[in-house]
Amino acid sequence: MHFCHAGRREGSIMTKQSFILKGNICYSKSKEEFAVTEQGYLVCIDGISQGVYERLPEQYAGLPVTDYGDALILPGMTDLHIHAPQYTFRGLGMDLELLEWLETHTFPEESRYQEMEYAKKAYGIFTEDLKNSATTRAVIFATIHRPATKLLMDQLEATGLKTYVGKVNMDRNCADYLREAGAGASLEETKKWLEETMGRYQNTKPILTPRFVPTCSDELMEGLGQLQKQYQLPAQSHLSENLSEIDWVKELCPWSTCYGDAYDHFGLFGKNGNTIMAHCVYSSEEEISLIERNGVYIAHCPQSNTNLSSGIAPVRKYLDRGLKVGLGTDIAGGANLSMFRCIADAIAVSKLRWRLADQSWKPLTAEEGFYLATVGGGSFFGKVGSFEKGYELDALIVEDGHERCARPLTVKERVERYLYLAGEQGRLTGKYVAGQKLF
Ligand code: GUN
Ligand code: FE
Repeated sequence: MHFCHAGRREGSIMTKQSFILKGNICYSKSKEEFAVTEQGYLVCIDGISQGVYERLPEQYAGLPVTDYGDALILPGMTDLHIHAPQYTFRGLGMDLELLEWLETHTFPEESRYQEMEYAKKAYGIFTEDLKNSATTRAVIFATIHRPATKLLMDQLEATGLKTYVGKVNMDRNCADYLREAGAGASLEETKKWLEETMGRYQNTKPILTPRFVPTCSDELMEGLGQLQKQYQLPAQSHLSENLSEIDWVKELCPWSTCYGDAYDHFGLFGKNGNTIMAHCVYSSEEEISLIERNGVYIAHCPQSNTNLSSGIAPVRKYLDRGLKVGLGTDIAGGANLSMFRCIADAIAVSKLRWRLADQSWKPLTAEEGFYLATVGGGSFFGKVGSFEKGYELDALIVEDGHERCARPLTVKERVERYLYLAGEQGRLTGKYVAGQKLF
């Protein structure tokens, strides 16, 4: 093998890169094991990791090396649940519970995205900040508005981040200004949007997004279930986040055996495509079994669950049971875009849950938190979130040298501390997504 044309493929312009990154390379080998290679080599060929080495194997000697010195090289992070239009009011109005918060702050803000001028400005800020954050992959809610959702997808595509984006469906139980005209109208718009976006981007894909059971009629759910089968689409929604919400779903769907069943009934609970359910704070044993059987992803959103006084999801239980779990910021339920902060929050709330509610499930460790944000959520995108051979190469370059400390720290200690002390953007100095350097 030789690499004179590293990064180039016969007959195509350069898309995927081949190179080597040198530095202190860290990633999760498993939930429990955090691998550290000091001054190691991370080899990338055509956007795919070939593994991490202490000494560079001969066969890779011709590849260009970027030496990041004493910096940390970490896998990119996946935000499994985030609302792009809510970025404008993050950190505001955090004194209400879910249903009132939606009515008071969320729905009025989301209605602004019928104006393309506003959408362009607001989504421009969101996409730029997301690009500069620790997030390399994200699964995103937009609003009900087709043109603004398409605009968001155009803007995200240009960042190089890999994302799924959903045009939201809602046809009941919300103010006129944000309610689609009926199930038929909502489905028509969704079909148009799919035709405009499916297979049209390199980095950006559509995902079906019924907001949650209270705002989606049976007829709409039925139609979305059909669309999912027809187009082979993934789906995302909210599940068992708040006690009043759960009671409401019981009233709206008296036939359902649990909240999850109200999605499953329409085929929208993982049977017909990869599905993410955000929160799962109060999932019953029956609901957990359904999640397990159907392979549904749980997006654990610790800061949102705190800000909206929702509760604390038993994430350790989900992890130990082998369910698919990742982390979400749930902007603007959560105020912070940083996935490092999200990890620290997940660990913190797991300790409160253990102390105050249920000592049968131990708190999360730093290793487990890191795993959730990288491999856990990343797996929704395929082989993502690790530097093991065969994974798509998403990497962060972290310069933590500004943190003053009177004694030297090990590389592992530096990563652990960074989870807690990371600013949102400050010391992230480089980012690669699927082998493409974003900065
Ligand atoms: N449930 C339905 N919509 C929303 C939302 O926008 N945020 C959160 N956290 N929960 C929801
Ligand atoms: Fe949400």
